[in-house]
Amino acid sequence: MKDSNKLTYKRHTVTAALPYANGPIHIGHLAGVYVPADIYVRYLRMKGEDVIYICGSDEHGVPITIKARQEGVSPQEVVDKYHELIKASFARFGISFDVYSRTSAPIHHETAAAMFKTIHDKGLLVEKESAQYYDEDSKQFLADRYIMGTCPHCGYEKAYGDQCENCGTSLSPIELINPRSMLSGNKPVMKETRHWYLPLDRYEPMLRSWILEGHKEDWKPNVYGQCKSWIDQGLQPRAVTRDLDWGVKLPLEDTEGKVLYVWFDAPIGYISATREWAREKGKDWEPYWKDRDSKLVHFIGKDNIVFHCIIFPVMLHAEGSYILPDNVPANEFLNLENDKISTSRNWAVWLHEYLDDFPGREDVLRYVLCATAPEAKDNDFTWKDFQARNNNELVAIFGNFVNRTLVLTHKYFGGKVPAAGELEASDRETLDKIRDFPGLIGQQIEQYRFREALAQMMNLARLGNRYLTEAEPWKVFKQDPARVETVMNTCLQICANLAILCEPFLPFTAKKLQQMLQMEGGTWQDGGSPNLLSAGHAIGQAALLFEKVEDAQVQAQLDKLMKTRQENNSQQQAEPLKEEIRFDDFTRVDMRVAQIVAAEKVPKTKKLLKLTVDSGLDQRTVVSGIAEQYRPEDLVGKQVVLLANLAPRKIKGIESHGMLLLAEDKEGRLVFITPEQAMDNGSTIS
Ligand code: MF3
Ligand code: ZN
Repeated sequence: MKDSNKLTYKRHTVTAALPYANGPIHIGHLAGVYVPADIYVRYLRMKGEDVIYICGSDEHGVPITIKARQEGVSPQEVVDKYHELIKASFARFGISFDVYSRTSAPIHHETAAAMFKTIHDKGLLVEKESAQYYDEDSKQFLADRYIMGTCPHCGYEKAYGDQCENCGTSLSPIELINPRSMLSGNKPVMKETRHWYLPLDRYEPMLRSWILEGHKEDWKPNVYGQCKSWIDQGLQPRAVTRDLDWGVKLPLEDTEGKVLYVWFDAPIGYISATREWAREKGKDWEPYWKDRDSKLVHFIGKDNIVFHCIIFPVMLHAEGSYILPDNVPANEFLNLENDKISTSRNWAVWLHEYLDDFPGREDVLRYVLCATAPEAKDNDFTWKDFQARNNNELVAIFGNFVNRTLVLTHKYFGGKVPAAGELEASDRETLDKIRDFPGLIGQQIEQYRFREALAQMMNLARLGNRYLTEAEPWKVFKQDPARVETVMNTCLQICANLAILCEPFLPFTAKKLQQMLQMEGGTWQDGGSPNLLSAGHAIGQAALLFEKVEDAQVQAQLDKLMKTRQENNSQQQAEPLKEEIRFDDFTRVDMRVAQIVAAEKVPKTKKLLKLTVDSGLDQRTVVSGIAEQYRPEDLVGKQVVLLANLAPRKIKGIESHGMLLLAEDKEGRLVFITPEQAMDNGSTIS
């Protein structure tokens, strides 16, 4: 099990977390998972390694069924829509999956069911009965998310069975006060059900030796730390089946209405996707998952750590024929403009919208997301930073160097690569440095330090930019054209090196630059050479690699976010809706038009007024908490709405008989509800 220090592998199996097909991809997903994984595999491919890059849509789970219900469509329609959107936006963005599959595919259902069956038939699952909430009306067990009730901690009436979104506490459905089914609105009953559990506790020794001893050095501290804390807290058996009608059906007799838990089936999606790829390419999938000479790496976000480091490895180990991941380089989270990215609050930069708003600028986003990737801690994406990195780094360093080199080559040498003459110290130094870059960059990539790798790549552009500025060919050309031949040769070699070494990070730019230099893309090993372009080689026309991002473009993006924020504010702060009532509940409420005939402050209180109102039935006293908003003298004569059949109660020693209706806004402002035209006192309201 201690393969961790192995240096060479026959092949690489690289997975990127399967995104849920219930929303589009945003920059948080990209920075955390898909961009780093894409850099990693592009690098390995350039090195000539055998690598497959696997992904697909995660299409099961309760949230997808809820979304379908809300939109009045089937779960399949939900996942079809988002699967296509996600797949297309990844492709446009240059994420170079070898396969992008989906977990609703038949090959996945078959693969996942078989895996469950094998583990089950080996006797490695524990079967257990337990009582769970059941909706007798819709005749089904209720997933935690399908139960609503009052939060026992904060009193919020729309808390879910697994969490209260008002106070953030995680709950179990039995804690909810007054639980009700979201399917029928009825009170659910407790009913016995049977489930299969993966007894994680039995695998503690294996996990300890594999992770805690075997990967202390090479796994990222955030990943290792989470694993350690899970293991140290004591692992519990985990239910891997659910009573639900959306998912992979259990391959066992008499299990109608049961499916695999989404977190059991989803990671098997990596295997199904590999099988799909192999079937299409006429390859063998098994070595990628079973040969100990294969290196398996999972790219994920930090919320997926336990599933990829503990649960899925236990499944693979229990099945018996699979390798375990060599590394799980999980990232932390990316925030957006100082606020948590959130699909439900629409607080995100959506990939498909970015691609529409910034056509041809795929690499700018790739660059910024890699440069600010939350590798060790959460990080913040801001549009100002996006603009600054584009304008000050991509345009001012990389683009500027390449452009000056190409323009000068055309100007002085008719677009032909001049031969290098005698080298000066500065030339030799520069050429020596170039040699180190593939190693420097590659070493960082192999250690999953993509920010540092990118910084190194930019250092090559910086080196070129500085060299060209210091050599000042535009000043030298008149007296010493031979010297300029050498300088431009060096610059062109640096450009050619950039065209190769930037490819994992900036694939669109690499292609453009290769075209401009009229060169074939090279292997990683070609990088570092001071002789990529031979003398006399004709280069193409210079075109701009990067363009400035203007203030107006940044402002447009910020405006879009401001609009979202305003929409959220107006929605979020509105009081949550109360429990549904029936029409006869409402008819029991007797409201009348009434008129205030006298008003005075209640002594020793700040808020209370003692009002005498004519209800059309009687004259009565009502105490109302409006003294901060209304002066008594302004109220006399006013027609208002009286809740007339409310039982009398004593407030500050005064018997108050009824209640006057007031509207209250988010800031606590109170105003009377009044008839829109004068009405007889005692008029009814319905
Ligand atoms: N859909 C999950 C998420 O977005 C990730 C699933 S990864 C897999 O958090 F391994 F389960 F596929
Ligand atoms: Zn709460």
